[in-house]
Amino acid sequence: MLLKIKNIIKKKNKIKIVSLTAYSKNIAKILDKYCDITLVGDSLANVLYGMKNTHKLSLNTMLQHSISVRKAVKKSLMVVDMPKGTYSNPNQAKKNAKLIFKNTKCDAVKIESNYKNFKIIREITKAKIPVMGHIGFTPQFKKKFKVEGKNNKETKKLLKEAILIEKAGAFSIVLECLTPDAAKLITKNLKIPTIGIGSSSHCDGQILVTDDILGMSGFYPRFVKKFADLNSIIEKAVKKYSKDVKNRKFPENKNFLYGK
Ligand code: KIV
Repeated sequence: MLLKIKNIIKKKNKIKIVSLTAYSKNIAKILDKYCDITLVGDSLANVLYGMKNTHKLSLNTMLQHSISVRKAVKKSLMVVDMPKGTYSNPNQAKKNAKLIFKNTKCDAVKIESNYKNFKIIREITKAKIPVMGHIGFTPQFKKKFKVEGKNNKETKKLLKEAILIEKAGAFSIVLECLTPDAAKLITKNLKIPTIGIGSSSHCDGQILVTDDILGMSGFYPRFVKKFADLNSIIEKAVKKYSKDVKNRKFPENKNFLYGK
């Protein structure tokens, strides 16, 4: 497990880190062939459960999805998001990180930052559980979407936050929706890799929500590239199935399990 973490860190300034989200085994199996990091993101609250934000996602739901993903992730580093409210103080954070680690057999947990979580990251890493940080637009703490790092003061604050997260022991950090300049400065000043989402190509790696790149979520902000349009592929298949059933074209004799 620690070797996997070391290999991620070694990629900094050399090879771009590829990362996507997975919420279940079948998708994770495909991702695992091409990704360095597979994240069981709490975005599953919005994407799968149709919740308006990630705030009410339970630890139990996160555990169930992570257990499913673990069944298929063999090669990549599996990171699990800690849901909001599961790391409100160092003791609770350590207890829940251990619970996630033990039950899902993940390689690391991810914690969103609200400029106060450094002690929490320290406590979890002290318990030998690797932590990925997350700054910028952190949906668990910020209600309104905003690009961060548009001025000097904001950029300096973000850089300080990133450095404190690194010092607390995190092995990597997600930069969500930062200006290219802020992403570049932070990436240059950290020893640990930065993984960007909506934060330009200056980061050491990239992460996106898989359902977005597959054209399934209906969420396509400018930083998302649709690499496929699965919605229309699935719709075509379902339409054909419906037509075949109605027209008695399915099932055919060859689909019968016994007799004619
Ligand atoms: O929950 C999530 O999917 C995330 C990534 C988009 C970084 O945190």
